Amino acid sequence: MKLHLDNNPTADIETECLVIGVCDSGSFSPATKAVDEATQGSISRLLESGDIEKGLGKTSLLHGLQGLGAARVLTVGFGKPEKLNLARFDRACLAAGKALRDHPLKQCHVCVQDIEFDNIGSDRRLLQAALAVHRANFLYTTTKSMKDDSPAPLKSASFQGGPELQSAIEQADAFAAGFEKSKILGDLPPNICTPAYLAQDALSIAEKHANVSLEVLEEDDMAEKGMDALLAVSRGSTLNAKLIVLKYAGAAEDQAPVALIGKGVTFDSGGLSLKSGENMMQMKYDMCGAAGVIGAFVACARLQMPINVICIIAAVENMPDGNACRPGDVITSMSGKTIEVLNTDAEGRLVLCDAITYAEQYNPDVIIDVATLTGACVVALGHHATGLISNDDELAEALLQAGDSIVDRAWRLPLWEEYQSQLDTPFADMKNVGGMSAGVLTAGCFLSRFAEDQRWAHLDVAGSAWKWGSNDGATGRPAGLLAQFLLNKAG
Ligand code: BES
Ligand code: MN
Ligand code: ZN
Repeated sequence: MKLHLDNNPTADIETECLVIGVCDSGSFSPATKAVDEATQGSISRLLESGDIEKGLGKTSLLHGLQGLGAARVLTVGFGKPEKLNLARFDRACLAAGKALRDHPLKQCHVCVQDIEFDNIGSDRRLLQAALAVHRANFLYTTTKSMKDDSPAPLKSASFQGGPELQSAIEQADAFAAGFEKSKILGDLPPNICTPAYLAQDALSIAEKHANVSLEVLEEDDMAEKGMDALLAVSRGSTLNAKLIVLKYAGAAEDQAPVALIGKGVTFDSGGLSLKSGENMMQMKYDMCGAAGVIGAFVACARLQMPINVICIIAAVENMPDGNACRPGDVITSMSGKTIEVLNTDAEGRLVLCDAITYAEQYNPDVIIDVATLTGACVVALGHHATGLISNDDELAEALLQAGDSIVDRAWRLPLWEEYQSQLDTPFADMKNVGGMSAGVLTAGCFLSRFAEDQRWAHLDVAGSAWKWGSNDGATGRPAGLLAQFLLNKAG
């Protein structure tokens, strides 16, 4: 979907649908006022009669208004102005985007970003509105036959605004591309989106963007480096694991890169510690950490941000088999630390620990790993917040702030040493499960042992990266948070 600016007078703009905001207050934003005036007070009258709803996220589609270049007007409610914040603004814009998707429109012109609130700048409001409209108009098509009555998402959207918003719309375009990449990969079925597929997709990203290069480590290469924790997960699968390393060089060579690591378990059956049917059916989403990281990488490369980024995807499939890793096996990670694998379903930390050790050779400024790591994170935070665990306050703060500013929010959880002893075992340096309590934290504790000398953060996106049972599927998160974090670092 194309996003661009149009700064002609609102009432004159020829469009299939003009999108304006209404608040639960006496006053109109500039675009809404212009539409009201051009239509001889129609908006005022329809608000009074109750035909236009002002509540947050309520939409009303108006036909046949005289005096406008637009064929229709969609009003979007932003509720009480004093309650409006970026998260509520995002929700209302998303509702507008969904209303646009559900009508036979190809194109629209959006003005809702002229509503002022909370000291949020116009560039931020534009970015958020554009991302929400884009997000709502994504349609999964890869493995679906299209019918005449299939929903027809928008092909393009223009936004009211002049040259002062040019960089914001370019940012929106790049972030939207990153989000879309993340979502497409996340939703793909596990028979298509295999480790080899992810490697192939990374190659196309490298070919499409300047300053991007790719290296893919095969199982032999990984064995040579001693990545036995990662390989132990892959042993039960007929598919070969890949360690995919995408490099973006946007700054001087001696500038330490940001290392982004993604859990790319393309299907998680649990291995010999097999999941129940009920818990297994969502496990194509177990590569959403990888998808989110790749999405942020794409946004970064599209904007040609002046930073260096190393993106490491640990792509494996976790399957049961005569060859598979057994509960009780002790394996030696690339770091030399030994791990007793007591539950083969706690595989994410096994692939990530070797990826973290591998990342150290790049002397990164920071390491951020992203993973659908624990069901416990879903219990703790539900589907709204990403779990954040870090050994560095400044890094944690920067990630939280980036997430808040783009409504892709995270919440920090403690990494107290008191939790570490839950990983003790007589038979190895650690075991890969920490028992019933604080599962999200003991997973973080496990990873922290491989990042001791690094500024490191871990994002558990088990709840935030996808929504089950709705039409939404993969959410694309945390591509937005990470892309914003990279942009803040670059700026
Ligand atoms: N991929 C799962 C985590 C997960 C669960 C993601 C539900 C999304 C929704 C992970 O590999 C896993 O199985 N974790 C186990 C760890 C446990 C065995 C310590 C879990 O959370 O049950
Ligand atoms: Mn698992
Ligand atoms: Zn998993």
